[in-house]
Amino acid sequence: MQSTLPGSDGLHVALIMDGNGRWATGRGLPRTAGHRAGVESIRRVCEAAPDLGVRALTLYAFSADNWRRPAEEVAFLMRLLRRYLEAEAARLADSGVRLVVIGRRDRLPEGLPEAIAAAEAATAAGTRLLLRIAIDYSARDAILAAAASAPRSREEMTGLLAGAAGDVDLLVRTSGEKRLSDFLLWECAYAELAFVDTPWPDFDGAALAACLDDFRRRDRRFGGLKAA
Ligand code: FPP
Repeated sequence: MQSTLPGSDGLHVALIMDGNGRWATGRGLPRTAGHRAGVESIRRVCEAAPDLGVRALTLYAFSADNWRRPAEEVAFLMRLLRRYLEAEAARLADSGVRLVVIGRRDRLPEGLPEAIAAAEAATAAGTRLLLRIAIDYSARDAILAAAASAPRSREEMTGLLAGAAGDVDLLVRTSGEKRLSDFLLWECAYAELAFVDTPWPDFDGAALAACLDDFRRRDRRFGGLKAA
């Protein structure tokens, strides 16, 4: 089994997990059923990622603008996040995954910040995959907060924003939408973008592998010229 360490070889993949609601309503189910199915996709993708050469995964679970959704859906998502962290931390730790949550914590419901801290502590020794989950996250707000500590170089700014994950190599958005929605705007400066039609609850390791195959065929020049 291939082992990857944050900071060593391996890719940072960011995922905008879109389409849960449409997946559910298309089946005559409540939108919440789509979010529940989306958690299964997260499990599949995390299991597959390290062997596909991914060392860091950043998942967009709840944006700072998602508070605008109906209160019942927001409450359901918050409960789902807490349950995921409480139920999954031990399994993630056993499989060498280090979990880190990015975003604001001061507006989260009671119990969730504690569940986040406990899951981060339980998985702190993981070196096989860095799994970052963005909750109440806004890239613009994160950039403003990092800039307040006056970084003196691009590298310092990247360190403040991304830590061990570093710049994003590949950003994937599911379910056909083609936008960034205030996600990792600094870290995606040179990310390759992939927009796939698959709704998030149908996304799995094979779908991630297909995105990575396409990514590896691309010519990344970072503003330079193609190698002779
Ligand atoms: C976007 O689909 C999805 C979300 C806003 C929530 C993502 C949450 C999960 C996948 C589950 C919880 C996460 C974790 C980490 C346990 P949408 O609701 O916007 O779908 P739509 O565009 O079809 O309406």
